[in-house]
Amino acid sequence: MPVPGPGYSITVRLEAPPSASTAGDLTTAVGRVGGVLTAFDIVESHPDAIVVDITANVSSADHADDITKALDSLAGVHVRKVSDRTFLMHLGGKLQITPKIALRNRDDLSRAYTPGVARVCQAIAANPDDARRLTIKRNTVAVVTDGSAVLGLGNIGPAAALPVMEGKAALFKKFADVDAWPVCLDTQDTEEIIRTVKALAPVYAGINLEDIAAPRCFEIESRLREQLDIPVFHDDQHGTAIVVVAALRNALRVVNKSIEQCRIVISGVGAAGSAIIRLLLRKAPADIVAVDIDGIVHPQRPGLDDNLRWIAEHTNAKRMTGSLHDALVGADVFIGVSAPNLFGAEQVATMADDPIVFALANPDPEIDPLEAQRHAAVVATGRSDYPNQINNVLAFPGVFRGLLDAQAHKIDDDMLLAAADAIADVVDDRLNASYIVPSVFDTAVAPAVAEAVKAAARKDEVVSES
Ligand SMILES: NC(=O)c1ccc[n+]([C@@H]2O[C@H](COP(=O)([O-])OP(=O)(O)OC[C@H]3O[C@@H](n4cnc5c(N)ncnc54)[C@H](O)[C@@H]3O)[C@@H](O)[C@H]2O)c1
Repeated sequence: MPVPGPGYSITVRLEAPPSASTAGDLTTAVGRVGGVLTAFDIVESHPDAIVVDITANVSSADHADDITKALDSLAGVHVRKVSDRTFLMHLGGKLQITPKIALRNRDDLSRAYTPGVARVCQAIAANPDDARRLTIKRNTVAVVTDGSAVLGLGNIGPAAALPVMEGKAALFKKFADVDAWPVCLDTQDTEEIIRTVKALAPVYAGINLEDIAAPRCFEIESRLREQLDIPVFHDDQHGTAIVVVAALRNALRVVNKSIEQCRIVISGVGAAGSAIIRLLLRKAPADIVAVDIDGIVHPQRPGLDDNLRWIAEHTNAKRMTGSLHDALVGADVFIGVSAPNLFGAEQVATMADDPIVFALANPDPEIDPLEAQRHAAVVATGRSDYPNQINNVLAFPGVFRGLLDAQAHKIDDDMLLAAADAIADVVDDRLNASYIVPSVFDTAVAPAVAEAVKAAARKDEVVSES
């Protein structure tokens, strides 16, 4: 059952008697039905009544109803209205455009717009590289989705995906001063998406693909990378892979193992799992065994698509077959990006000594983290209510900051690995089993990632020029 959290928070405005016991009665009523009170504000005071805003974290719509009824049933209390604070935050959207220039008079207008702007246009026509110097292109990223795999909600379409893309753009700005803009496409056709992104690319210095379902996302990304001269990065793949590689480097330090000795089981070979496998292979683990809904991935398994075939051929050295539970026996590391509740503490007990368990399925992980902790030396999840949250926010803002600063034309695995090392390094001597990745609010992270990616991108450009 979900627990009350700030993602679902209500404010109940009510009238109550002005007696000394009112505050206690109201807060007790909220607590009795499991609400987590976060604020109590008196907004009006009269001789015979007070008007109070009670703000509480709840777990569901039914829970919000329970709290409202509990308050309304108190003697002398009358609920006037209930507001959902998350919806209030979204009224009118979360982004706006603010010009960087003042338009105070005719003189300003003549330079910002016609006739002056025409000479700037001509300069760019003569030298297209000047677009990065003279337009928003320098600092602007498109957050492109087709709405086909949004959060845990599935294929909800482009309009319903917009609040997520707005949020993503806000994070880009907050953590790395990148101007990102949502581009929600009303098509789920691979060719049309590629054509459309190509057509709108002139405005942008980078493309962040978001919440596009596998396996379509693989082809869209690789074709756009071939055809565009700006970096294209599918965050659900590579953002996750960067943070997982960073977290694993530090988790292995905690248990004093080297990756070359480790057999790693990866559950889920979709967008996230495939990218994690490809990046981890660069670190030369002893072996990786991939498992999906149909069991262990191996070359003889019927019905493999191109992605799974590649993975079957580059992993599973012992050609194991069977289930996730079979794969876990003797494994050093489990990384789950698949589905909830796939195994319990008894399977963790079959893993090698000091096992590492990253159960990242959201919102409900592959194993209850408390169960995993019974035998695992290090446990990470995708959730903010447990230690070691694997959160892409640690990666994507700094990655794009670095790419934009380097004026990079592409992105490659060396840059992803540089980003992973930078995240892992920020932890430094604070490392322990409950602190293998920095907090998402650690202000050192994005600049460190940006610097590392910029250096890797510059090195890359020098190599490709020589
Ligand atoms: N930072 C994070 O914590 C983070 C990042 C990315 C993804 N995730 C989570 O990982 C999960 C997968 O994300 P995705 O974008 O790769 O999804 P996806 O749909 O592209 O892939 C899902 C994969 O899981 C496999 N799968 C489904 N049910 C399974 C089962 N019962 N046993 C084994 N494998 C099973 C599927 O076969 C597929 O390979 C989601 O829950 C997502 O929220 C977490």
